[in-house]
Amino acid sequence: MRIKNMGLRGLAVADTKISFIDGEKGILIYRGFRIEDLAKSSNFMETAFLLLMGRLPDKSEAEAFQRQVVQARRVPAFVLETLRLLPSNAHPMDVLQATVPLLAMADPDLRDETRDGNVRKAVRLIARLPVVIAAWDRIRKGKDIFDPNPSLGHAANFLWMLHGENPSASMARALDVCLVLHADHTFNASTFACREVVSTRAHMYAGVAAGVGALSGELHGGANARVMEMLKSLENVDDVAGWVRGRLDRKERIMGMGHAVYKTTDPRANILKEISARLGEETGQPQWWRISKTIEEVALEELEKRGKKDIKPNVDFYSASVYHVMGIPADLMTAIFALSRIAGWCAHIIEEKFAEAQEKPMLYRPTAEYVGDYCGLVGCTYVPPEEREQAAGVPSA
Ligand code: COA
Repeated sequence: MRIKNMGLRGLAVADTKISFIDGEKGILIYRGFRIEDLAKSSNFMETAFLLLMGRLPDKSEAEAFQRQVVQARRVPAFVLETLRLLPSNAHPMDVLQATVPLLAMADPDLRDETRDGNVRKAVRLIARLPVVIAAWDRIRKGKDIFDPNPSLGHAANFLWMLHGENPSASMARALDVCLVLHADHTFNASTFACREVVSTRAHMYAGVAAGVGALSGELHGGANARVMEMLKSLENVDDVAGWVRGRLDRKERIMGMGHAVYKTTDPRANILKEISARLGEETGQPQWWRISKTIEEVALEELEKRGKKDIKPNVDFYSASVYHVMGIPADLMTAIFALSRIAGWCAHIIEEKFAEAQEKPMLYRPTAEYVGDYCGLVGCTYVPPEEREQAAGVPSA
């Protein structure tokens, strides 16, 4: 089979029981549950349990899981000391990617390849990535870092560690919903990277480090930071509509719009749009949501005129304004995505390692068609450097 230059679009490379997308209808499901229902009624801790364990927890299981995550929040001192050695202009995603192997070195279950051992690693990763990111933001600004507060929930504790003050209940809930929305998304680029790496039997942290790297790109998780840059650049622009038209005329992309799978509105964007409007008003910063809405309206109209009516806001479009009013800097926004997606990555890594959705574990090993210069199967004649003429050994075209 030969599928080239299509970025593997539409090609099923594995079976999975973790999540499902209907890109035509705009449906996203985690382990059987619609994303709208989880965003309305669940929370990130419960959703993480659902992704990892395949079912919702009962009350005592949910409490025990929350307790385990809270207890695992303490990041080993050597990791925090290492963060202090890094250049303060290092990008948070590079810092996060560099920190994952350090966390691996501190994990007593690193080589425990049982399912339980991997779940314990997942719990530590879920607990510690937020601590690392909040600590890095403070360290790079020359500020003291705050210890995690065990009485606060996952999202509230992150905002506490970032700002040193307790967030309002409404803001903490909004961030928690964002974490639910970003927790998994089938075989996106970063999840595939995680699965590909652990298919070699590398440990969970090696897979997660690859996932962080893949997420950092602007066509994937890096888009939310680019959306915020776009909103900031438009804060004092009167003619936002003209700016959008100009950009599309120049064939430039509007960040936070379009999706490789959704051909209609991303269901997560609808939920984030509401949160963006509400939090914007509550925090006295409605301008970001208003600029976003104008961009969306004009872009949809203009794209339709250009025969591209499939390009709609994705998860990054409204999350940028949501995070901004929470006081989260633009270059930290992709790391917030990672704090949530870690739950999905770990669930997929476990599914991959234990072949939970297919017959047996399988090493990913695609092939590529060789289109380079060659001298036939006999190979080119090796000429010593001193005897080589320009282009020696390479047949002329
Ligand atoms: N704004 C304007 N035009 C866009 C666009 C956007 N956000 N996204 C895609 N297009 C256009 C492309 O320019 C291309 O036009 P052309 O055929 O005239 O060259 C066409 O739509 C197809 O683009 P392609 O990149 O092949 O589509 P895709 O479905 O593979 O792209 C994304 C998916 C996400 C990579 C793409 O929509 C994008 O770059 N979006 C912006 C980045 C972003 O928000 N990423 C986060 C994804 S969750």
